[in-house]
Amino acid sequence: MCGIVGAIAQRNVVPMLVDGLKRLEYRGYDSAGIAVLDKEIKRVRRVGRVAEMENAAKEINLTGLLGIGHTRWATHGGVTEPNAHPHVSAGLIAVVHNGIIENHDEKRDELKRLGYMFTSQTDTEVIAHLVHHHYTRAKDPARDLLVAVKSAVKELVGAYAIAVIAMDKPDQLVVARMGCPLLIGVGEGENFVASDVSAVLSSTRKVIYLEEGDVANLTRDSIKIWDKNGVAIERTQHLSDVSLASLELGPYSHFMQKEIHEQPKALSDTIEQVLEQGFVPELFGADAAKIFSDIEGIQIIACGTSFYAGSVARYWIESIAGLPCQVEIASEYRYRDVAANPKHLVVTISQSGETLDTMEALKFAKSLGCNKTLSICNVRESALPRSSALVFYTRAGAEIGVASTKAFTTQLVALFTLTVTLAKMRGRISDEQVAQHLDALRHLPGSVQHALNLEPQIAIWSDKFAPKHHALFLGRGLHYPIAMEGALKLKEITYIHAEAYAAGELKHGPLALVDESMPVVVIAPNDTLLEKVKSNMQEVRARGGELFVFADLDSHFSESEGVHVIRTPRHAGVLSPIVHSIPVQLLAYHAALARGTDVDKPRNLAKSVTVE
Ligand code: G6P
Repeated sequence: MCGIVGAIAQRNVVPMLVDGLKRLEYRGYDSAGIAVLDKEIKRVRRVGRVAEMENAAKEINLTGLLGIGHTRWATHGGVTEPNAHPHVSAGLIAVVHNGIIENHDEKRDELKRLGYMFTSQTDTEVIAHLVHHHYTRAKDPARDLLVAVKSAVKELVGAYAIAVIAMDKPDQLVVARMGCPLLIGVGEGENFVASDVSAVLSSTRKVIYLEEGDVANLTRDSIKIWDKNGVAIERTQHLSDVSLASLELGPYSHFMQKEIHEQPKALSDTIEQVLEQGFVPELFGADAAKIFSDIEGIQIIACGTSFYAGSVARYWIESIAGLPCQVEIASEYRYRDVAANPKHLVVTISQSGETLDTMEALKFAKSLGCNKTLSICNVRESALPRSSALVFYTRAGAEIGVASTKAFTTQLVALFTLTVTLAKMRGRISDEQVAQHLDALRHLPGSVQHALNLEPQIAIWSDKFAPKHHALFLGRGLHYPIAMEGALKLKEITYIHAEAYAAGELKHGPLALVDESMPVVVIAPNDTLLEKVKSNMQEVRARGGELFVFADLDSHFSESEGVHVIRTPRHAGVLSPIVHSIPVQLLAYHAALARGTDVDKPRNLAKSVTVE
C-alpha cells in the first residue's frame, strides 16, 4: 500500500529512485512521483505507472544527488496528479508517505488557520506543511530539519513511513516510521531508504530495519537513529539474502505465472526443515514446546488468501490435533467484542507480514491477554513476526504478483506442520501416522508438479470462461476453502464475478443463479464427501449449468454433455487441498490472459495492504 524510496549519494539518484519504485510498484500503482534536490526541489508526478513518470523525468532531464520517490495506492483523495506524492510545502519541504494519518482533518484546519494552502485531498500534504511549520517557526537561519520532523511526527496520529528532504539541506534525508515498514540501505558514501529491500538491492544488500517510532537522519556517510523515546540507538545491520535474480521475470510473461511454476521449489524449500527435524515444536521457535504444551484451542487471524489458508487449517487442526479452532478475518476480529481465551494460541498468517488489519488484530488479541502468539509469514524481519512470540517462516521467496499463489501453498505446509506437531505432542497420533504425514509432505512437490502439467488442458477451459460474467465454485470439507480461493483468484485478476459455496449450501440460494450461462467449477477429489458432491452436481446439471470438474483418478467421473472433467493427480489424503490449489490458480491465470487483463497488477488492488 504505497511504496517509498529515498537516496542520498554522490551520483545522480534519479535512476536508482526509478528502479526502486518499479520494484515497489506491487504496493500500489495509481500514480508515481519523485522529487530531487537540484538547487531547488524539482518534482515529477504522473497518474499511472512508474514508467510514465520515468519518461516525464527523462524529458526534463531530472537529476540530483538527493531525492525521494513514491508509488501510490490511493486512499485519501482520488487518483489525480495533485494527489500524487511527493507533496511539497512552499517549495521548501518535500515528503513521501506510506500509511494513513488519522487526525489529518484536525491538523489541516490548524494549518489552514496558520495560512497554509492545500492543493491536494491527501493526508500527506498535512505532513509536508506540518514539517514546514516546525522547520520555519524558529525563524532561525540554521533551521533543523531533524528537529522539525521529530516535532511534526509527535503531532501525528495514525500510521506512517515518511521520507523528507528540504530545499536548503542538500546533505540530509530524514525518515520516520510508525506502523508502516521502512528500512535503510547502507551504502559506501551513499545511503538509501525504502519500504522494502527489493528497492535498494541494486545498490546494497546491507539493511537496517527501523522499529516503530524510530526517526533517522541520513547523510552520505552517516546514519543516526533515535527510538520512540527520542533516545539515540544502534539498530542491527542485516545482510539481505534476497537476490536480484529472484525479483526478475526470467523466461516468464508474468510474475504470477512464474510464481505458480515456482511452487514445487517453494514447497520443497519450506518442507526441507520439517524433513530434517521432523514435526518438532522447535520449528516454531525456542519457546514453542512450552507454549504448545499449554494451549486449549487455536484462533487463526488473517486476510485475503492467507485467511483461506487458515480456513483449510481449521479442518486439519480439529480433526488431526483435536483442538478447537476458529478462523477469522482480521478486519472483523479487531472490532468485535471477542470472548478471548488466553489459553488459545493466536496464529496470524500473512505473506507480507505487514497487513495492517492483521497487525492490529494481533495487537488487539494481546490486549485481551492472548500472549501465546505464532506468526506464519513469508517476509523475514517484517512487523508481524517481530510482534509474535513464535514464528514459522515460509520459504516461498519473493512473491510479486498481487494475486498470491506460492505464498498460499507454503502457508498450508506451515499449517499442516503445526497441526501434526500439535497432534504428536498431544498424543493424538501414532508414530506410524507421523511417518505417513512426513512421507506425504515429501511427495508433495512431485504431486504439485504433476498438477502443473495440467496447464494445457486448463488453458483450453479458460477460453470458455473468458466471455462469462459470473462463475460459481463449489467444494466441500477441506476443499471448500480451495473453492473460495479459486473464486478469489478468478475475480481479482479477470474481474469475472465469482462466488464460492460449500456445495451442500447450493440449494439454499445460489442454485437460483444457475442456468446455461453459469459455469460451475467443482473441486471433487475422491474423499469421504465425494458422493455428496456428486449429488450437488446433479442439482446443477438439472438446471442447465455447465460443470467444470477437477477430480482425481479415483473419483470416477466421465465427461458428458455439459460436464467437463480434468483429472488431478492422486495425492494421499489430507494434503489434497494443496494439490488442488494449482488448477484453480492456472484457471484464473489463463482466463485473465484470454481477457487481456493486467495479471500482475489487477485494477484497484495492491499486494501489501498497510491501510485499514
Ligand atoms: C492483499 C493481497 C492478497 C493477500 C492479502 C493479505 O489483498 O492482494 O493477495 O492475500 O492482501 O496479505 P498478507 O500479506 O497479509 O498475506
